[in-house]
Order: sequence, then C-alpha cells, then structure tokens
Amino acid sequence: MERFLVTGGARLAGTVQVAGAKNSVLKLMAASLLAEGTTVITNCPEILDVPLMADVLRGLGCAVETGGERVSITTPAELSFHADFPAAGRLRASVCVLGPLMGRCRQARVALPGGDAIGSRPLDMHQSGLRALGADMSIEHGRVVGRAAKLHGAWIGLDFPSVGATENILMAASLADGATVIDNAAREPEIIDLALMLGQMGARIEGAGTATITIEGVDTLHPATHRTVGDRVVGGTWAYAAAITRGSVRVEGVDPVYMTAPLERLTQAGAQIEPEDDAVTVTMPGRPNAVDFITMPYPGFPTDLQPMALALAAVANGNSLITENVFEARFRFVDELIRMGADARTDGHHAAIRGREQLSSAPVWSTDIRAGAGLVLAGLAAEGVTEVHEVMHIDRGYPHFVEDLQKLGGQIQRVGDSGDPLRA
Ligand code: UD1
Repeated sequence: MERFLVTGGARLAGTVQVAGAKNSVLKLMAASLLAEGTTVITNCPEILDVPLMADVLRGLGCAVETGGERVSITTPAELSFHADFPAAGRLRASVCVLGPLMGRCRQARVALPGGDAIGSRPLDMHQSGLRALGADMSIEHGRVVGRAAKLHGAWIGLDFPSVGATENILMAASLADGATVIDNAAREPEIIDLALMLGQMGARIEGAGTATITIEGVDTLHPATHRTVGDRVVGGTWAYAAAITRGSVRVEGVDPVYMTAPLERLTQAGAQIEPEDDAVTVTMPGRPNAVDFITMPYPGFPTDLQPMALALAAVANGNSLITENVFEARFRFVDELIRMGADARTDGHHAAIRGREQLSSAPVWSTDIRAGAGLVLAGLAAEGVTEVHEVMHIDRGYPHFVEDLQKLGGQIQRVGDSGDPLRA
C-alpha cells in the first residue's frame, strides 16, 4: 500500500495546470454509448477512474483507447445492456451508464457499487425519473434493472437537484419520443458540459445550467469530439492549498466563474484573488481569518471542497462553523484532523472548529478522494512529517498530484510498504 509523506512548513508558489473534470469526463464517456461510431474526448485527466470507466464500457461492447489526455470510444451497433461486477462494482460513477443504456437499448442492468465513505447514495431519483419516461425500474440481486417498451417525454420534478439523476435523465430523454422537462435540475458546470457534448451529438437540449432543462427527444445521435471542462474541484483544492500555506499559486485551466463560492470564502479569509478567463491567482499574505462554510448544490459551496474548508478552518485565526448539507458522513474526516491536533467537534450536520496557529503531524487515513486531498493540505500546515495512508483514493481523482505539489514547492513523497520513495 502506498502512502504520502508530507512535511509541513513550505509556502506554495508557482503555477499549476488543471486538467478536465473527473465528474464530467466519466459522464461524457458514458454518453458515448448513445451513438454508434467513434467519440473522442480530450482534456481527459490522467486518473485511475478513467481506465476503470473504460473497462465498464468495454464490458458493454465498446472499443476504448485511453492514454494521455485523449480517450477514444467506439460504440457498436449492438450494445450489451449489462454493466456487471466486477468492473461496474469498482466505480460508483458507473451508474451513469444507466440513462444511456435505457435510451439506446430500452433496457439496462447495472451493478450497484458497495457502501460509500461519504454517506448513503440512493438511486430513488434516478429510478423515478426513468419511470416517468415509461421505464419499469427495480433493484434485483445487487443491480439496478430497467426495461421499457418505449421511452416518452415527461415532466420530472426532482426532490433535490441530484447531479447523477439529472445526468441519467438527460441522457435517456435525449432518445425518448417527445419533450421532457426536468425541474429542480442540478446546475453544476459538469451538467452544462454534458449537455454541450450531447448537443454536438445531435440532441436538442435547452436550459442546462439552470434549474429547468428541456429536452426534445430525437431518433438517433451521432458521435462527436468534445473537450472536457476544467476540474473546478481540483482547481479549488490548489486555491485552498495556497491559502493554507500562506503562499501564492496561479491555477490554470479552470474558469474562475465556476469557483465563485470557494473563491469568495477565500476573499473573506483574507486572500487576494486575481481572476482571468481560464485561470486564477490566489495569494494569502498572512494567517487566514476564520470563516463559516455551508455546502450546497452548485452554485453554493461544493461538498467536494468541504475537507479543504475544514483544513483551512483548522489553522485559521478564530472560530469557524461548517455545515454539510449534501453528504452526511463526510465529517469522518474531522476525526483525522483531530489526530493532527485540530480543535474540532461535530454535531450532526455541523462542525465547529477553533483555529490553531499550526497542526501537528500524525499518521492519518484517507476515506475518500476529497478527504485524502484535504489531509495532504492539513499536512502542509503541520509541524513535522504527516503520513497519509490509503492514497489510492487521491489517485482516483487528482492527476499527478505529487508531482504538481512538488513543483509548487510542497514537501511530499510517495513511498511504498518498504518506505522507499517510489517516484521523484
Ligand atoms: C456527484 C459527484 C460528487 C459530488 C456530488 C454533489 C460524480 C461522479 N460525483 O455525485 O463528487 O460530491 O455530485 O455535488 O459526479 N440522492 C438521493 N437520491 C438519488 C440521488 C441522490 O437521495 O436518487 C442524494 C444523495 O444521497 C446526496 C444528494 O442527493 O445526499 C446529492 O447527490 P448527487 O447530487 O446525486 O451526487 P452524485 O451524482 O452521486
């Protein structure tokens, strides 16, 4: 098992390039199922989840080439509709093949991954949306199963603006008969990105990025070439890393408009923010001031940056209150921060933190992608060498994380069981 050794104290400085968003590219790959032929996706991040998703698509009959920043997917005329264990079970995002399979094959059988460290992730809204389009949906033997004689357009009002449910409905409705309206739809930039690619494939979609999306179903879609939107969560992670280390980092490859809430919180914490078209520079001249955070669906503060907010609060000047509204189990991360000397306690959806001048290094364990990155950020603000375990989580979501951090002056090393450095 690999782990990271993080030595605190260095102020990060320099420029970091952000690749395409994990939470977009996996859905774009799934969308390629909707059209026979070869779809090409560029600005693809080099993360573990991409080859895992490629295996899911291969299991459905696609030929997939990955490597570098380009993925090419050739979808056959006849698709299998069964995304089964073990490939689909390894990746929670594999559930996003459900909508395309229903659209293309009118049936789907998709393995459900096991429990998730960030909290319960039910599929009720995915299923009720597809039911509204005319499908029979059920959970059978650890798989979500859908069947439909035909799909027809419908009005669908979501109870909560679920990202995954919006995406599955969007993809299935693109090949349904007639018009579908999704109300209380998720507004994330990744939804806009998916709708843009579907539009290039011939889908007729309006309103992506707003709470009401209208889809006029078409008979067939054709393949497209699409560039993935920059990863605002990775970009936000580097912005918070700059603030926590009292450094100055230029983050390139992501539109700062998509990072408004995280950057606004950093301004309140005392950072200087210099936005450009596709880049932002974050400079923190001194110890951050304490600020409160409330996670919300986009355009609110993203739950995926909640661990970074907690790490910042742990070293800020004053008291912070952090409220988690999206994934209830995300505060498991606080226990790891407490091992590093953070003065924090949680109560239900809230975490209260009294900032300390400095944290102290400790062995800590990543529980998910974002918690792992948050622990590295905390390690950068800790005295001594922090050992971050279970780093495969970080590799699932952050391309060349160690190398990028080293280039910014961060003291981090990847080591194996023996304790020998694995890479520069
Ligand atoms: C996506 C992101 C994840 C991010 C999250 C919220 C991917 C691969 N993952 O996850 O990084 O943290 O959006 O921004 O894109 N819910 C239900 N029933 C449903 C669906 C969701 O109750 O049918 C609940 C979930 O339990 C959760 C909330 O809705 O509490 C938000 O979930 P959702 O927006 O669907 O997140 P994901 O698409 O799973």
